[in-house]
Amino acid sequence: MTERFSADWLTLREPFDAAARSVGLAERLGAVLPERPRLLDLGAGSGSLFRWLAPILGRAQVWTLADADEELLLRAFDDIAQWAAVRGWTVTLPGRVGHRAMLVHTPFGALRVEALCIDLAGAPGGLPLAETDGVVCSALLDLVSAAWLERLVAALRVPLLACLAVDGRETFLPAHPLDARVRSGFRRDQVRDKGFGPALGPRAPAVLHATLEARGFAVASAPSDWRIPSSALGMLGALVPGHAEAAARAHPGSRGAIDAWRKARMRQAIAGRLAIRVGHRDSLGLPPR
Ligand SMILES: C[S@@+](CC[C@H](N)C(=O)[O-])C[C@H]1O[C@@H](n2cnc3c(N)ncnc32)[C@H](O)[C@@H]1O
Repeated sequence: MTERFSADWLTLREPFDAAARSVGLAERLGAVLPERPRLLDLGAGSGSLFRWLAPILGRAQVWTLADADEELLLRAFDDIAQWAAVRGWTVTLPGRVGHRAMLVHTPFGALRVEALCIDLAGAPGGLPLAETDGVVCSALLDLVSAAWLERLVAALRVPLLACLAVDGRETFLPAHPLDARVRSGFRRDQVRDKGFGPALGPRAPAVLHATLEARGFAVASAPSDWRIPSSALGMLGALVPGHAEAAARAHPGSRGAIDAWRKARMRQAIAGRLAIRVGHRDSLGLPPR
């Protein structure tokens, strides 16, 4: 079973993801990568991490976007083409017809992007790790299990940049008496099996660091919180019902109270009186020499 994510949701969150990720860790990754790095993006979705990271690395690159969702991978190509057009960069489609690859011609070099449609539950099986200089991912590691992470790290010989793993710090402002109940239900949903075994949820950053360090990786990490201001009605309007739904599934006996919480929170959002902060961490693991 693979957890599905809608392209609209990934588009909605993209600017908040971009503002949250650690530029410092991305630059440290860039400093250890070769001249024309080959990057493997796990759970790439519609390509949000590529659009953020490629300009920071700022040179010719080769990306493989790996995801089980073929529709999201198709969307990634469309979104990257649009992103390039806005910047005045041309896009060409190299190779044989039907082979999904594109070249984005930027002032800092050509970015080659390929798609790999793969169920990552079996990873590292099927991943082109031997032809990769760096593995990256964003908003993926809280979905996976400790055992999956252990298998991946055991096979890794290159740097890993893992962005936006939730760390459990979450604040709705102003506070509401039912927040703790909603948070506990949401937390239970975060550790539900998403196709990789019991999900790490908010334990993801700590488990990642321990797993990397046990294999001799040097680990650096930085907070990458979402700061959702009262003006971001679209994002607030997605997070509030999402939390309420997950909490009601976990606490069916509190369904009525949770629905009242949802309505109160939506009224606040519409009135411009609600803000949310969601704790995340970015982590960079550098392999032993
Ligand atoms: C939260 S989204 C993040 C997408 C993208 N990295 C971003 O930051 O916008 C998680 C991604 O993991 C993918 N995914 C989930 N389970 C998967 C699996 N078993 N195999 C491959 N991809 C998977 C989803 O299709 C989705 O694109």
